[in-house]
Amino acid sequence: MSRVLPCVSLGLLVLLALEVSSLPLQDEPIDPRIVGGYETDVALCPYQLSLRRKAITAPQNAFSHVCGASIIAEDIAITAAHCISATVPSQWKVVAGTNYRNETDGVIVSVSQIIMHEQYYKEARYDNDVALLVLNPSLPLNNHNIKAIPLASEPPLAGAMSKISGWGTTTYRGSSSYVLLAVDVPIVSNEVCDADYEDYEDGLFNITSSMLCAGVRGVGGKDACQGDSGGPLVVNRQLAGVVSWGAECALAEYPGVYANVPNLRPWIDAKLAEITLLRKKLN
Ligand code: ARG
Repeated sequence: MSRVLPCVSLGLLVLLALEVSSLPLQDEPIDPRIVGGYETDVALCPYQLSLRRKAITAPQNAFSHVCGASIIAEDIAITAAHCISATVPSQWKVVAGTNYRNETDGVIVSVSQIIMHEQYYKEARYDNDVALLVLNPSLPLNNHNIKAIPLASEPPLAGAMSKISGWGTTTYRGSSSYVLLAVDVPIVSNEVCDADYEDYEDGLFNITSSMLCAGVRGVGGKDACQGDSGGPLVVNRQLAGVVSWGAECALAEYPGVYANVPNLRPWIDAKLAEITLLRKKLN
């Protein structure tokens, strides 16, 4: 008896050690989430969407959360171009009105069209990181937890408080949140942000006018992270940014970077007008 037990526990220990050592491998590809935030309710950010993707080479796999997005009209969502690049509409489901990353409550609709910014990556890495999704059927907006958010028309001032939400990881390379999280982070000017990123990766990353930054400079601890991409950055109840990229997450030295919605308005408005025109012709 006393000889067998240590054997069993040793075996268990070895198994446990193997389990633990295999954990970092599961983190790839990196999946970022809200860092330093608080639990919220979709009724408080009713524009928040979860984008779920199915791998086309493994059609038996379930749809799973990869990015956030925001409702801007009953049948239009806005997300990050990097979330949907090299995919087709049939790979996606869009979930509205849910608090959970991997539940099937809420309203689930399909994507009929992906409109990606033609100048994505043009002048810099992640330049113009924005895309529109046409939803089919339309979302029921007569719902307290499913609502469109107006687009900001002026870039927010440095220091303005923004609210970012999503189901992304709660630490860099950590695990994703099961419930919807939000965090309040001040806007950082493009000039300051560009200077902050000068010493990052040999200055390979530039902050262009299609971008917007938010972070607690010198302190860190609050940020979007992997899995939050494509989701909303809201200032004064208007959509001012789309989660795009950052150096790791919540570092004191590097703010989070967002697609700059007000500066991308000419493109967004032109695409919305095209969609409306096309629809009139078809009807
Ligand atoms: N690219 C990430 C995503 O796909 C979002 C990164 C945001 N990072 C940050 N530090 N703010 O989910």
